[in-house]
Amino acid sequence: MIVPVILSGGSGTRLWPVSRKSYPKQFCALLGQETPFQETVQRTKLLGLQAAPIIVGNCDHRFVMAEQLRQVGIEGARIVLEPVARNSTAAMAAAAFWQAKTDDEAILWFMPADAAITDIPALQEAVSQAREAAEKGYIATFGMTPTKAETGYGYIEQGKALDGTQKAFHITRFLEKPNEEEAKRLLAAGKYLWNSGMFMARAKVFLSELKALAPEIYNAVERSVENVQTDLGFLQLEAESFAQAPSISVDYAVAEKTQRAAVVPAHFGWMDVGSWDAVWELTPKDSDGNATRGNVFLDRAKNCYVHSDSVVATVTGVDDLIIIVTKDAVMVSHRDRAQDIKHMVSRLRDEG
Ligand code: GDD
Ligand code: MG
Repeated sequence: MIVPVILSGGSGTRLWPVSRKSYPKQFCALLGQETPFQETVQRTKLLGLQAAPIIVGNCDHRFVMAEQLRQVGIEGARIVLEPVARNSTAAMAAAAFWQAKTDDEAILWFMPADAAITDIPALQEAVSQAREAAEKGYIATFGMTPTKAETGYGYIEQGKALDGTQKAFHITRFLEKPNEEEAKRLLAAGKYLWNSGMFMARAKVFLSELKALAPEIYNAVERSVENVQTDLGFLQLEAESFAQAPSISVDYAVAEKTQRAAVVPAHFGWMDVGSWDAVWELTPKDSDGNATRGNVFLDRAKNCYVHSDSVVATVTGVDDLIIIVTKDAVMVSHRDRAQDIKHMVSRLRDEG
């Protein structure tokens, strides 16, 4: 049995001002009618997975999650609530401990709530390869073909095929978020793949690796799941123990260190919808390369992304800009500097 686990705790700062702390990007419809969170849950249905998903997210977003699931008709999801954010390792551990209470052999398919995937048959194929690797006791990752020297991703060096499989491979090295120089070198080497951010493993395999590699996280989350409280159908992790888990991403805590990692190279039209330039790339464009959403009027502009869910945004005589208008904020950035929004928002928080 494959149990989808949806990690829904990110803050989405680079998509400010639409993505807010109280209402982060995974809950905002930026591309179609549905939100990335809804698309992610529905994708697991499209693949024909029978098990209801486990969703791990912040306590502050519990009603948003429940309402968005209701809107797309998903029933039976188990929503595990974190009292504070302790990064992806603790979130994944919470889901694994919860699942292990009833079936620790179950295969957990951990996925972020904010990736776009366009080729479902290719995803289906990759999932079945990853499942084989997970059944053999590996923690499977999905390797994407890199297209640039991106510093925001994990890089995977693919080794030999696992015994008895042709499409799942050992990982000889996993390197999370290399610096720019290193990313250029890895890209030029031609034998590295990007980590998609999805992982698949048996609950007991993930937990035993965690126990060996990050025992403080293991212990803290184990206690918080032992003392979980059910409240209005939500599973509230016990706050004091959960808060003691060190805040480290799974890429550093487990993926870089484990000997049990495997990779399935795949092409399923994956894209991390992490910043406004990614939204521009994924939105259909006019003949001048402009993509828009909402109340927008453009004249003599090229390759811009303009979004307004408030007053009319009118734009003329500029190229390559991102302009976002909401009820209470306007954000303007060059498309090439879309990553810098994170820095600006953190200054705004401190000084604004
Ligand atoms: N529930 C919960 N709680 N989820 C969390 C938390 C948390 O405290 N922190 C992060 N997540 C979720 C995010 O919502 C996202 O879905 C996923 O875990 C990954 O976290 P990010 O913060 O988005 O990681 P990243 O983008 O920097 O890097 C990861 O994804 C890349 C691909 O997009 C890594 O796995 C990289 O190796 C990978 O290349
Ligand atoms: Mg991310």
